[in-house]
Amino acid sequence: MPAIHDTPQWAALNHHREVMEPRHLRHLFAEDPQRFEQMTLRAAGLMLDYSKNRVTRNTLELLFELAEAADLDGWIRRMFSGDRINNTEGRAVLHVALRNRSGRPVWVDGEDVMPKVERVLEHMADFSRRVRSGEWVGYTGRAISDVVNIGIGGSNLGPKMVCRALGHFHDGPRVHFVSNVDPTHVGETLARLDPETTLFVVASKTFTTQETLANARAARAWCLDGLGDEAAVARHFVAVSTHAERVAEFGIDTANMFEFWDWVGGRYSLWSAIGLPICLALGMERFVALLEGAHAMDEHFVTAAPSENMPVILGLLGIWYTDFLGTTSQAILPYDQYLRHLPAYLQQLEMESNGKRVTRDGQPVAYPTAPVIWGEPGTDGQHAFYQLIHQGTQSIPCDFIAAVNNPNDRLGMHAMLLANCFAQSEALMRGRSHEEALQELLQQGMAAEAAEALAPHRVFPGNRPSNTLLMERLEPRTLGALIALYEHKVFVQGVIWGIDSFDQWGVELGKQLAGVILPELEQGLVRDSHDASTRGLLDYCLRHRRP
Ligand code: F6P
Repeated sequence: MPAIHDTPQWAALNHHREVMEPRHLRHLFAEDPQRFEQMTLRAAGLMLDYSKNRVTRNTLELLFELAEAADLDGWIRRMFSGDRINNTEGRAVLHVALRNRSGRPVWVDGEDVMPKVERVLEHMADFSRRVRSGEWVGYTGRAISDVVNIGIGGSNLGPKMVCRALGHFHDGPRVHFVSNVDPTHVGETLARLDPETTLFVVASKTFTTQETLANARAARAWCLDGLGDEAAVARHFVAVSTHAERVAEFGIDTANMFEFWDWVGGRYSLWSAIGLPICLALGMERFVALLEGAHAMDEHFVTAAPSENMPVILGLLGIWYTDFLGTTSQAILPYDQYLRHLPAYLQQLEMESNGKRVTRDGQPVAYPTAPVIWGEPGTDGQHAFYQLIHQGTQSIPCDFIAAVNNPNDRLGMHAMLLANCFAQSEALMRGRSHEEALQELLQQGMAAEAAEALAPHRVFPGNRPSNTLLMERLEPRTLGALIALYEHKVFVQGVIWGIDSFDQWGVELGKQLAGVILPELEQGLVRDSHDASTRGLLDYCLRHRRP
């Protein structure tokens, strides 16, 4: 099979770009009154309006042909049937098995993994029920009021994002998340807590992650300080990991361990026991509803034709912008305060998955891969960085995400939020021409000369693309579907780019070098082998550090 950029389908898109570049979205809307109807999709409780993208039906057809050339269908089948598609780590990629509600088996190396998935779900249900009901008590007999999840990356961002996104349904113990190795993070968190009523969930797929183990040690010392007995650890610490031996070595009883497996990638793991804080905060029923929402999106992804397939469409639009229209970033703009951690979650999902520069067989890619993902909830973002999105020199595709109903809307403010959301995508699409800007100023009574001078500053080029994703309510099911949608979007893009979306070698080198530098800082001995900058920084710290 030729490299994707050597295919006639890639060439056709390159040619098509020349046709599309001069076309303005305003005109595309004017030419086609059916554009909205034709470019909206509904799946798993979500509605996607992708009509405000710089595409025509023809663009989409060419993108579907590109997906066919990359054998997207085949790769989807391979993922769902447990092939080792994470080739650099030799692993299957089966987060979809964790939320498989179909009753169908999922095979890995001849084993149906569903019975063990169900077993761990039962363990999570039982444990969370006991903690939430007060049946599970701490060492001194008091019920648990606070849970601290200690984990980083996928062992933090997913459960944190979901717990906050479903904050409206939170009826269990308070849940805190400690991730950063900065002692301030664990220190500030524990300062507000009582060791008698605090439960720690140490979450690490590998149970080797330096940050997590350091924070867990700090928490253990704090717990022992407060409770004065090693035996207390068993009542106040549980672990989530794929690695029982390391959990035991750390001093956590493996009876208090929740297992998952190496076919679950860290950033795809919130559906596994890594989701334990979600069960503790919201209860098992809501966690299961989250799984069901994701499963509904999985079924859609596997069965819908490309032209009806939400993850396929989202993924291909991203390819169109990144590889043919030259955009380098993608904004995630939730118009929902509960979704405030979604951009950070998607940063890991997309950038750790597809921030790759070689193909699966190790050849340098000849095209850009993952864009920079960033964002903030609206309307805060509007008063910070939207200036650049509207009038800056780069085009930044935006995903607007909103729920039609808001559980906190007692004063009718939600309409204001939605009005802002829709106004932003409209403004980005339409823009304001020089003539419109000028006429507006003249109508406001400004003198002609002053209006001419000001008009260029009030021009919006428009033609800036966006998707809008709506759901009736932000609830476990729709959130599950939303997350799965982005997971599959990332998969679609990884397939087109021919990269392994499920490894993360890019985090290794820094980790390795930190391992060299740490003893130097601790012992005050800096090696000559460092470059002058690193040596200078270390010397500065050693000279200015107070014992
Ligand atoms: O940042 C690298 C990484 O391996 C992520 O992929 C992962 O989510 C995170 O570290 C945490 O890893 P672990 O769960 O093994 O502690």
